[in-house]
Amino acid sequence: MKTQIESLKERALAACNGASDVQALQEARVKFLGKKGELTALLRNMGNLPPEERPLVGKLVNEVRDQLEQAWKQKETDLAASKLQAQLEAETLDITLPGRKPRKGTYHPLTLVLNEIKSVFISMGYQVVEGPEIESDYYNFEALNIPKDHPARDMQDTFYLTEHLLLRSQTSPVQIRTMERQQPPVRIIAPGKVYRSDADVTHSPMFHQVEGLLVDKGITMADLKGTLQLFAEKLFGPDTKTRFRPSYFPFTEPSAEVDVSCIICKGQGCRVCSDTGWLEILGCGMVDPRVLAGVGYDPEEVSGFAFGMGIERIAMLKYGINDIRLFFENDLRFLKQF
Ligand code: DAH
Repeated sequence: MKTQIESLKERALAACNGASDVQALQEARVKFLGKKGELTALLRNMGNLPPEERPLVGKLVNEVRDQLEQAWKQKETDLAASKLQAQLEAETLDITLPGRKPRKGTYHPLTLVLNEIKSVFISMGYQVVEGPEIESDYYNFEALNIPKDHPARDMQDTFYLTEHLLLRSQTSPVQIRTMERQQPPVRIIAPGKVYRSDADVTHSPMFHQVEGLLVDKGITMADLKGTLQLFAEKLFGPDTKTRFRPSYFPFTEPSAEVDVSCIICKGQGCRVCSDTGWLEILGCGMVDPRVLAGVGYDPEEVSGFAFGMGIERIAMLKYGINDIRLFFENDLRFLKQF
């Protein structure tokens, strides 16, 4: 009997230690320690023993049961621990793996230039206003002293929507809309999209302008020149010179075109400035008294100046871009450079 018990113990321990998972361990437990298991069967046989041996064998069986219970408990703990370990290994995050970088956006070069232009004029006390892109013939032309059939209309190849509505060909109509709304002093810039039927490396059917208008008592051409000189210095650098050339715009008198000393060659003459040393950047002039009278201002009382520039042109000069279409193709290789 004693050897039977010893053998049972050996086999039970071997089964316990050899169990590879919780289920195998549980099955082995039933086999050896269960109600119908081998140990219980042994106990049942105790009745066949001589009475004096029973307590001894009973004690031995109990000891073995305790040892086996102990062994099962230990194995359960071990299995649980190795299962957790395996799970941890399988599910670890490899924090050394490089992350996926989100692509960072950048400002469009036209936005950068517009922001610079805005901040220069805002610092001089100008307000930023906007007007509609679908404009009436009246605001886009007539109120700006460009009557129907006037040859000046040919300066701009306009997209008409109906007989009286068009895609604005300039931001100048915002001058009129602003003056109709408020009394002098007026000090505004008006950025926005404009449209002309024109397309090549320096012309796009849609492009951007910034209009400027200042009206107050006693405004002279000297104010215009000083303002635009300061603007040129802030935008292109402190050494920048300006040159005012007589020109013609229907809504200003006198009118001028403004050149800045070439920002590439500093006025020496190069390919960009066609060896002239100068780059044209905007049109301007003193607001024609007829325009002032048209919005109900008294030209004897107040005077003003206006100017208008193309943002694409300025951005092309500033960044050395030679094809206007690059602005609108949204090629990231281009856009990321600014
Ligand atoms: N609107 C003109 C154009 O598109 C630019 C311009 C010239 C605007 C002179 C002005 C100005 O305000 O005074 O060609």
